[in-house]
Amino acid sequence: MLATASEHSICMKRRLKATMAYPNYIPKLLILICMGISVIQAGSISSSIVKGSLLPSPRILNARVAGSGQFPYQVSVRVGGQHNCGGVIISQNYVLTAAHCVYSFRTSQLTVQAGSINRTEGGVVAGVSKITPHEEFYFYNNDIALLKLNISLEYSDLIQPIPLAAILPPAGVQVTVSGWGRIREAGPLSDTLLYARNLFVLKTEDCSKFVGSSTLQILCLQKVLGNGICDGDDGGPAVYQGFLIGIASYHSNGCGNNNPDGFTKIPYFKRWIVENSDLDSEIAG
Ligand SMILES: *[C@@H]1O[C@H](CO)[C@@H](O)[C@H](O)[C@H]1NC(C)=O
Ligand SMILES: *[C@@H]1O[C@H](CO)[C@@H](O)[C@H](O)[C@H]1NC(C)=O
Repeated sequence: MLATASEHSICMKRRLKATMAYPNYIPKLLILICMGISVIQAGSISSSIVKGSLLPSPRILNARVAGSGQFPYQVSVRVGGQHNCGGVIISQNYVLTAAHCVYSFRTSQLTVQAGSINRTEGGVVAGVSKITPHEEFYFYNNDIALLKLNISLEYSDLIQPIPLAAILPPAGVQVTVSGWGRIREAGPLSDTLLYARNLFVLKTEDCSKFVGSSTLQILCLQKVLGNGICDGDDGGPAVYQGFLIGIASYHSNGCGNNNPDGFTKIPYFKRWIVENSDLDSEIAG
């Protein structure tokens, strides 16, 4: 049914972000390769050709509207003042996001909005003084970055850090994701922060069918049709029992299908996060 593991991995690339972030020829190449695979798959997976028309609207996350202060660790990472990705407050001075969201930009192009559920208004807007993408970031591998803010965030009911998980939750448990990403494939961004609790940690064996040997650092979150993350949710949090377990990295072949979404595993990168930020490993969670 699926393309081979390696072909499939190639098609998991974030398409929107790739257009901005990678040299021009790479996305085109990927699109061509992925189109080729779609054609091959069309015979066996009929839904791939009617995607978007027959699937339920993949309203990101099949989501609910967040209350003010419900996700005080969530931020919007902006490029040129416009929402580009989600991010997560881990200390007064540091935000965690996905490397593909920020690695190609200069600090002067980035800002971070904290303390508001409104994507465009309110809260505090901080500048970025340092961007630290993972040294071995390559496409969706090691897709994690730290942003050092140019001010210290003042904690309040609306602005709080989230502790990092030291271990992964067991397969099958429900996790919470949140973001301002597109409310359907190629649709508009959400104006208000949305969240969902209908993503499930996929067993490593099943995850490896999608990401091959990358399961060490990629967490697959399974969902049913019409759910999951979409463009603009990447960089944002997956949370289990109050601990950050993942950073949204990619969705495959359009939003809202029934492939798992890929998240960067926080426990795997915890040491890297502590080493590259001001987080105290004793209180990191
Ligand atoms: C921080 O960055 C913002 C946005 O770039 C800028 O407006 C502000 O002046 C900077 N503040 C400090 C203290 O450097
Ligand atoms: C966000 O703030 C803007 C400006 O105040 C306002 O026009 C808009 O309605 C707000 N959006 C939501 C979803 O509250």
